[in-house]
Amino acid sequence: MTSDTPGMRRFRCRHRVGRGVVSTVLALVALSLALPTVVGGEESPIEFDQISNMFEPVSVPAQRIRELAELVIAICAGIFLVVGVLLTYVIIRFRARPGDEKREPPQVYGSNNLEAAWTIIPVIIVVVLFLATARTINEVELKEPMEGALEVTVVGHRWWWEFEYPEYGIITANELHIPVSTPERPWPTFLWLESQDVVHSFWVPRLAGKTDVVPNRRNTLWIDTAEPGMYLGQCAEYCGTQHAHMLLRVYVHSEEDFDAWVKAQQAPEVVDASVADGRNLFQRTACINCHTLDGTVADGTYGPSLSHLMSRKTIGAGAAFNNAENLRKWVQDPALFKPGVRMPDMKLTSEEVDQLVAYLVTLK
Ligand code: CUA
Repeated sequence: MTSDTPGMRRFRCRHRVGRGVVSTVLALVALSLALPTVVGGEESPIEFDQISNMFEPVSVPAQRIRELAELVIAICAGIFLVVGVLLTYVIIRFRARPGDEKREPPQVYGSNNLEAAWTIIPVIIVVVLFLATARTINEVELKEPMEGALEVTVVGHRWWWEFEYPEYGIITANELHIPVSTPERPWPTFLWLESQDVVHSFWVPRLAGKTDVVPNRRNTLWIDTAEPGMYLGQCAEYCGTQHAHMLLRVYVHSEEDFDAWVKAQQAPEVVDASVADGRNLFQRTACINCHTLDGTVADGTYGPSLSHLMSRKTIGAGAAFNNAENLRKWVQDPALFKPGVRMPDMKLTSEEVDQLVAYLVTLK
């Protein structure tokens, strides 16, 4: 027995329009995160359902930042509404009418109440915003690792991420693996952020706020999540040509899965005799000056470590899926996926590329 009045219908309609605008804005934000990964007709390594939505935090710091953002948006929306309503009222109520031309509007001077009001109210608003922000910064910022934290050193390079686990002697690239926190084992991850070259910014929207990665400085960040899964992130500070291809993935594992990952990364490479040609070729070329590969002579640090290469989902910091076909294209011409990439074309013959890739895909 409910029939909508025209006013209610208008309200519903407006409400739907409002939601439509919000979801459109969210979709555009999400799209802007995904677009850089579409490479000249290549299949993007990012599925749309994996897009990182900062409005869906799963980690304590990201949750705190979301709460602060909601408070700031609510206060600002309130101010916008009050100003908008007053402005509309004044424009309509005091509009020029026929016969007004010769008359001056009444001039109001020196109202103490009015002046006190428009001074005190903004000051209160600014103080509230300041205190709320200071509290959030205090909760989110940590200079030293907390008790029992897993420490990882993150090094920003043009254009990839290096992850070092000093405790386990593991160095990997572009895909960070961490354990979940459980009530029995609150095991947060503490990141030391360093840069090898220019300023980058580490940002995994669902896990933590973005933090600049600055040369000659160590910034810090922590993650504490109870939700296993894969979380996408990216460099959020323009750092040169391939800034948009400086993506990263964070894999949050259950404790057992994380231990298994650590064991697999620590295991020595299995030398496969059938790909000895590729292995020899690798050790003869300049690859070894830039890449490290445990168990070989390669100990370069300019490019990502190739140890356990095939345990990674993507190559080129999220530029393409990691598989034999893409590795082949990558070795033959790295600029195909990443124009401006610092890895040179090694001018290998087609047969040599085949040998090399056959070897690389054995690096489990
Ligand atoms: Cu690194 Cu942008």
